[in-house]
Amino acid sequence: MQILDGKKVSEDIKNEIAAEVQEMKNKGEKVPHLAAIIVGNDGASLTYVGSKVKACERVGFESTLIKMPSTTSETELLKKIKELNEDDNIDGFIVQLPLPDQIDTQEVLMAIDPSKDVDGFHPENFGKMALDMSTFIPATPFGILELLERYNVETKGKHTVVIGRSHIVGRPMSILMGRKGFPGNSTVTLTHSHTKNISQITTQADIIITALGVPNYLKAEMVKDDVVIIDVGITRVPDETNERGYVITGDVDFENVSKKASFITPVPGGVGPMTIAMLLKNTLLAREQKRIK
Ligand code: GUN
Repeated sequence: MQILDGKKVSEDIKNEIAAEVQEMKNKGEKVPHLAAIIVGNDGASLTYVGSKVKACERVGFESTLIKMPSTTSETELLKKIKELNEDDNIDGFIVQLPLPDQIDTQEVLMAIDPSKDVDGFHPENFGKMALDMSTFIPATPFGILELLERYNVETKGKHTVVIGRSHIVGRPMSILMGRKGFPGNSTVTLTHSHTKNISQITTQADIIITALGVPNYLKAEMVKDDVVIIDVGITRVPDETNERGYVITGDVDFENVSKKASFITPVPGGVGPMTIAMLLKNTLLAREQKRIK
């Protein structure tokens, strides 16, 4: 069994990006600038956005964090998005999800200028991704592809089972794994809450990508020998013995499933850090595309 070490690979990628930023600085060019909007005070979301901003500093990007109260109206948020769309200094920005109930997420995502949509959530970018056109690939799926590529995990002709059909992970992942090329050329099954006899499907899988948010959901008896496991789950499970009061837990019963797996991502230290690295990569791409124009 080999660990797909997202922590290490993400550090490699950040070093590569930092070197490119240094080159930009040496030439006197503007460095990439990422902005993030967060609405409300959800602890996990604040932590994720904080990590994204910290990662910007680490590679030499500029960053701006915009915190808006949980009572923010959709109109107020759309106004802020318009400002960022029109601000030449900002190369890319994200609106951290989920948003409070009074705000229509799809309206918000459609308001983002597709050329600054480094999350790749705008329908134009999502459509381009589905059509194999060059675009921003959502950071978590992009990170998973990068891990599979850097560890040379064979995907061609394999049966990939994706668990969960979220717009952020499951849906794009199911499209990307079936595309031509590497990683890709898989036969893909997308499973979700209405899937019957899921164990019958997962035991047929060569690769399982789980993005469910149910701690320890995937058990050893649900997988076959030599399976490749990508665990996207990051649930905070209360734990008094931990100084933070919780532990981050994946969707996979790691202790038992890892004994059968050929490759497996740990939680934490697997997909999570890759997501942040690929957001930086998309921001670098956004900057480069602006420079070419
Ligand atoms: N919430 C959970 N994952 C993500 C992500 O990749 N981007 C944004 N904007 N919000 C998220």
